[in-house]
Amino acid sequence: MVRNLKKRDSWASRLGIIMAVAGSAIGLGNFLRFPAKVSANGGGAFMIPYLISLLLLGIPLMWVEWTLGRYGGGFGHGTAPGIFHSVWEKNRFIKYFGVIGIFGPLVIFIYYTYIESWTLAYSFFSLSGIISRLSDQKAMQSFLSGFQGIEKNQYFNSLGYAYLFFLITFILNISVVYFGIKGGIERVCKIAMPLLFVFAIILFIRVLTLRTPDITRPTWNIYNGFGFLWNPDFKALKSAKVWLEATGQIFFTLSVGIGVILTYASYLSKGDDVVLSGLTAVSINELAEVILGGSIIIPAAFVFFGPQQIQSIANSGVFDLGFVTMPLILNRLPLSTLLGFSWFFLLFLAGITSSISLIQPAIAFLEDEFDLGRRKAVVIFAIIAFLLCQFPIFFLNKGVVGELDFWGGTFFLVIFATVEVFLFGWVFGMDRAWDEIHKGADMKVPLIYKYIIKYVTPLFLIIILSAWLIQEWLPTILMKNVSPANRIYIIGTRFSLLIIFLTLVVMVKLAWRRRKLSQS
Ligand code: PFF
Repeated sequence: MVRNLKKRDSWASRLGIIMAVAGSAIGLGNFLRFPAKVSANGGGAFMIPYLISLLLLGIPLMWVEWTLGRYGGGFGHGTAPGIFHSVWEKNRFIKYFGVIGIFGPLVIFIYYTYIESWTLAYSFFSLSGIISRLSDQKAMQSFLSGFQGIEKNQYFNSLGYAYLFFLITFILNISVVYFGIKGGIERVCKIAMPLLFVFAIILFIRVLTLRTPDITRPTWNIYNGFGFLWNPDFKALKSAKVWLEATGQIFFTLSVGIGVILTYASYLSKGDDVVLSGLTAVSINELAEVILGGSIIIPAAFVFFGPQQIQSIANSGVFDLGFVTMPLILNRLPLSTLLGFSWFFLLFLAGITSSISLIQPAIAFLEDEFDLGRRKAVVIFAIIAFLLCQFPIFFLNKGVVGELDFWGGTFFLVIFATVEVFLFGWVFGMDRAWDEIHKGADMKVPLIYKYIIKYVTPLFLIIILSAWLIQEWLPTILMKNVSPANRIYIIGTRFSLLIIFLTLVVMVKLAWRRRKLSQS
């Protein structure tokens, strides 16, 4: 297809895109979701399905997305509908599968940004000293519930603060993308990523050097804390759920299977390396996840709360771990104000470098397929996303976040990834794909990946999808795990998601009709 390609934005440097992709990958998922998943799913044994998924799904998908993104960018397309269409021009429907690549990031953005705003608020509360005055679990918990507007109490009598910090976070996110790829995203990630590592390393060292606070209980020490997290329980490997959770974590943490990496890679030039850069981004993420993320919250909680309580703490959910347990621990240490700030600001930096990556596909779609200028595209996105963000803010305790996370951050990922590898290995054709991956490459992909990408990755994805369909499809659709009072909210959320999805389908149709007219 020959089109008059208008000049698209681009990355200024190789380091820039690596930092941006690593920034997208390293997020709340590394420091909260990962440790919670490991301790709930067999400790060190969880690492077996996790590493298998990394090798057979995560790394191949990263390469596939970098390659397809760069390829599509060459045709002026930065999002999945156009990229899929460039790969399989003869198929009229494939572009509609690509809608997931705009829909998924938007859906994650809606709740992710709100949670990210809590980390900014808590950074502020830590510095102001309020957090260090909350001395027990009960106080910390009611502070969180009051802040979230779930209850009125002595700390908060409205959602005002939460809303204020949401507004600040939202505006910050929008401002970054407003300045474009190199002027906004690249610039911010190049500063935020090293800073994030500084904060993470400070906390890592602080936890490693923790002494047992109560000398009458010498077993409550950091070694046993690591043991609690990492000692393998091999029985867990028999459960299909543990395998699903491990693959889910790989998708979520690497930001693959959702369209974000495709979009980032579409701003590369033809001869830019994707093999080494993609692998570098994966490695930085894994360092931040397994080494840093796995060494902070759970081992520290063990030292302070001991073997009996740690199990319930680990299962208390990601929010309680991050916003109740961790500040309680840091409060008991010297310099608690600064440590508290380091923890929440670390989460904020991790969060914002991820949420800006969730915005970019929608912006690229409006720019590339409707020829809108960046500023106009950003304004349209901001208005729509702002309205959608009200759902998690006002219906937080009605199960809305879980529902958005399920569709946007779990279910559609697997479908999208399956379509991607199928297109790459079977439609594009593995020999051509192999040449395409290696254009400008600074490293050769091990030959075995030619077979993994063609056969193993798709098979793995189909097995995961089938296992899910067999085990969970009906209960999920019928909302078996949702309390009757919340059902109406879940139905409302699903209905809204359907409307968003259909709107995007119509937009793709319009964009293609427009293009056809302008070509004839
Ligand atoms: N990878 C991010 C994390 O670990 O928190 C979350 C995320 C960002 C998922 C961007 C998907 C995505 F497209």
